[in-house]
Amino acid sequence: MVIFSFLTVLALSASGAHGWGASGHQAVGFIAMEFLSPKALSFVQNSLGDMYNRSLGPAATWADEVRSMPDFAWSADLHFVDAEDNPPSSCNLNETRDCANDFCVLTAIANYTTRVVDTRLDAEQRQEALKFLDHFIGDIGQPLHVEADALGGNRITARCNGASTNLHSVWDSGIINRLLQQSHGNSVANWVNDLVARIKTGSFKSLTSSWLSCSSVTQPLRRDLDLQINEFLGTRAVTPLECPLVWGGESNKFVCSTVFTFTTGEDLCTGSYFTDAVPVIELQIAKQAFRLAAWLNVLFDGATNLP
Ligand SMILES: *[C@@H]1O[C@H](CO)[C@@H](O)[C@H](O)[C@H]1NC(C)=O
Ligand SMILES: *[C@@H]1O[C@H](CO)[C@@H](O)[C@H](O)[C@H]1NC(C)=O
Ligand SMILES: *[C@@H]1O[C@H](CO)[C@@H](O)[C@H](O)[C@H]1NC(C)=O
Ligand SMILES: [Zn+2]
Repeated sequence: MVIFSFLTVLALSASGAHGWGASGHQAVGFIAMEFLSPKALSFVQNSLGDMYNRSLGPAATWADEVRSMPDFAWSADLHFVDAEDNPPSSCNLNETRDCANDFCVLTAIANYTTRVVDTRLDAEQRQEALKFLDHFIGDIGQPLHVEADALGGNRITARCNGASTNLHSVWDSGIINRLLQQSHGNSVANWVNDLVARIKTGSFKSLTSSWLSCSSVTQPLRRDLDLQINEFLGTRAVTPLECPLVWGGESNKFVCSTVFTFTTGEDLCTGSYFTDAVPVIELQIAKQAFRLAAWLNVLFDGATNLP
């Protein structure tokens, strides 16, 4: 029975294409592991246990693996927020308009933030909350998870490495798979090491403090992540938090600036489209991973504990 369900999960993960593909989500989880402070790390390792090798990397894809199973069909709408904007001329995310039923990735992050530290819940429920946070804080960084147009690009036919696919899938996995083959020996671990180094000492280092401040050009005067979580936990109301709204807004802007800049018939996994997309994808993966770690650090250690 255990073996059967494990194989089922593997089969589903191979066919599923929701949010960053498996490699993108695993990268978010593995990078976050490098930035956890002691209590957050201890909770993550104990909660996930041997089944996930005590790591957010392998656990990050669980939410996609279960969403097509009947027991978890209810969770499918939590992987995105449908920004009803008008790309490429106008991109914007509006919580009232786009998450009107309070059942989208914004409310999901709030919900599982509350649940992961709720000691009234049992270990399995808290593990579920952790796996959802691990996944959704990744998903909200994928621009087409913050876009309603053409079902988040699923209905836009696209070409990737000569094969016919759709725009959403190109951003979930097509470009990442090509990047891994081309520059990282087809290894997520190599890619993760590279992105971690860029966060710690390289091109991302100067950006990390801004990643933890939930302010943006369009939404100024937002408070820092740690203040916001602590205030939120005081009330425990499942309403969208400001930080995920800012993160979603950042992702959504890339729909106009980068995702919708293709020309008809262009192969999106080679040439200039690929070259322009890679820095966006790497930024979004590194940034959301760092934010995931910060989020868990505030929840379990009381502060982000990050530069
Ligand atoms: C499990 O984690 C350990 C320690 O982080 C690592 O060395 C090992 O390669 C991992 N095993 C698998 C199967 O990923
Ligand atoms: C967001 O959408 C709501 C509902 O459509 C609207 O009333 C509000 O003005 C919008 N907010 C902004 C900042 O555009
Ligand atoms: C909150 O989590 C519970 C348990 O997984 C789930 O039943 C509920 O639908 C979730 N709500 C949102 C908005 O995520
Ligand atoms: Zn997803």
